Amino acid sequence: MEVAAVPGDGEETTWLVRRRGATVGTARTRLRRGGLLLSGLDVAPADAAEALEALLVALGELGQDSLVVDVPADDRVLEAALAGRTLQLQATQMLLDLTDVPARPERVALRPMTAAEFESYRDQLITAYAQDMLDAGAFTDRDRALEASVVSTEELLPDGLESPGQHLWTAHDGEVLVGILWIAVDAPAGYIYDIEVRHDQRRRGYGREVLDAGARAAHDLGARELGLNVFGHNDGARTLYERAGYATTERTYRLAT
Ligand SMILES: CC(C)(COP(=O)(O)OP(=O)(O)OC[C@H]1O[C@@H](n2cnc3c(N)ncnc32)[C@H](O)[C@@H]1OP(=O)(O)O)[C@@H](O)C(=O)NCCC(=O)NCCS
Repeated sequence: MEVAAVPGDGEETTWLVRRRGATVGTARTRLRRGGLLLSGLDVAPADAAEALEALLVALGELGQDSLVVDVPADDRVLEAALAGRTLQLQATQMLLDLTDVPARPERVALRPMTAAEFESYRDQLITAYAQDMLDAGAFTDRDRALEASVVSTEELLPDGLESPGQHLWTAHDGEVLVGILWIAVDAPAGYIYDIEVRHDQRRRGYGREVLDAGARAAHDLGARELGLNVFGHNDGARTLYERAGYATTERTYRLAT
């Protein structure tokens, strides 16, 4: 099997997948956040692994060292394409059904973040998000990761705490600050952008309670589902979400060419 790029000047490249000269399907690639993404693979499941291999070889010959693939849960073609490969999990997308009102946690209550708290939070958020992207392999260059982190923070929080649809809280057990939470709500969809428990308060069940308090607050704001992204290396957080009832909707892998 072999692939051939169809000449074009759009953002996406279409590749014809051929076996002995006959076209058996197509693949599509495009740039996303500095990396190359497989944006489509339209072949029979039985041809998928071979088609992907041919594409990786062609990309390698063009000097591309990796390809990122988003795999929705139950995507038969992509699952067949990736079977047996060594994969680097870059991120997992997860979703919680918020149809029912979540129970109130026992200890944790949320308070809106103050302007002073937001100032220091924003700085550490930019550094931490850049580090997460480096650890997940989305970037290899620290300055570029930092630049992307600043851009994404500005986009999401253009007016700081007043940014429409963005809700930032500190989480407390009585008067003790245990963590922070940031959720965006565009009803009926909600999305957790950040959750963090203070280092010295971890593994005491606060993470789960902050999550539950956030689910309740998001429900009050009209959300009926709550999504989030967890980076591939963050096994602890993924376990926390699975135990809290989140289902995996998509996994993102990075493949070496
Ligand atoms: C992820 C995080 C919020 C968890 O907070 P926490 O208060 O320690 O979580 P909990 O005590 O409620 O943990 C609940 C369960 O989640 C799982 N879990 C949480 N952290 C874990 C870890 N580091 N390793 C393995 N499992 C972990 C465990 O199953 C745990 O239950 P257990 O302690 O009975 O084994 C915290 O580690 C943190 O702030 N990390 C840095 C920021 C971060 O990664 N945020 C997530 C971004 S997607």
